[in-house]
Amino acid sequence: MTTRPSDAPWADGPFALIPTPSQRIKDSHSYVHVASEMAYAHNTLLRGLNAILQQAPHVPDASTPATYNTKDVGDLLFYVRCWCEMVNHHHEVEETFIFPEFEKFSGQPGLMEDPRHQHSLFHDGMERLLAYATATKPDEYRWLGDGGMKQIIDSFSKPLTDHLYAEIEILLKFGHLDSDGLRKAWDKGEEIAKANGNLGLLYTVFPCVLGCADKTYEGGNEFPPLPWVMPYLVKYWFARGVGAWRFNPCDFFGQPRPLAFGPHTAKSL
Ligand SMILES: [Fe+2]
Repeated sequence: MTTRPSDAPWADGPFALIPTPSQRIKDSHSYVHVASEMAYAHNTLLRGLNAILQQAPHVPDASTPATYNTKDVGDLLFYVRCWCEMVNHHHEVEETFIFPEFEKFSGQPGLMEDPRHQHSLFHDGMERLLAYATATKPDEYRWLGDGGMKQIIDSFSKPLTDHLYAEIEILLKFGHLDSDGLRKAWDKGEEIAKANGNLGLLYTVFPCVLGCADKTYEGGNEFPPLPWVMPYLVKYWFARGVGAWRFNPCDFFGQPRPLAFGPHTAKSL
């Protein structure tokens, strides 16, 4: 279960987190490892989405001038942009590296067709949100109402989260594949993906991944698989002074922390 930092709403809802397969399935076949690693990654995406849905309603927009704060809104928009880039990066890595490796090793060209199709169901919505978060000026930003950010998120959050749950179930059916071959295909896909990352990700995707990955979840885990020095580099260099990371539900070392914006912040405004 999630180690919530307090009784206040946290990033384990409204969309439920995925139970770790290796906690309940005792099988040395590598499909359990692959499904568990994917569950950690998907929970990272889900926590980010939940953190936005939990906190954005408590960031006043310019329609309430008395409580509106340009910096808070600008930071929220940048956070949402980075979350979109994190989600897009995950799916691009899968489509470009991981899925082809699985299909090559198994000799089954259509093996990952279902998740590929599911990606197409939320692709346009993700693009709309990314465009909104990137182009909108803080004064023009609205959470509620027609054309507001909530409406854009609501338009695709169901197919997105359905996919994040369904892909784990697909991987859990890979027990019939060769265990060593599957593990090698997974590791190779990860290695190629890491080698193809670019420097820009260190300012956007990495701080989001590190701040949405809960290392205490269900007894502990080592996700994301990055060098130990990375959280320090992100904290003291790449993310330094960037207010958007206040929206992360964990610190850069994977420790859950109370959400920065909530019903409690409204009182002090
Ligand atoms: Fe995935």
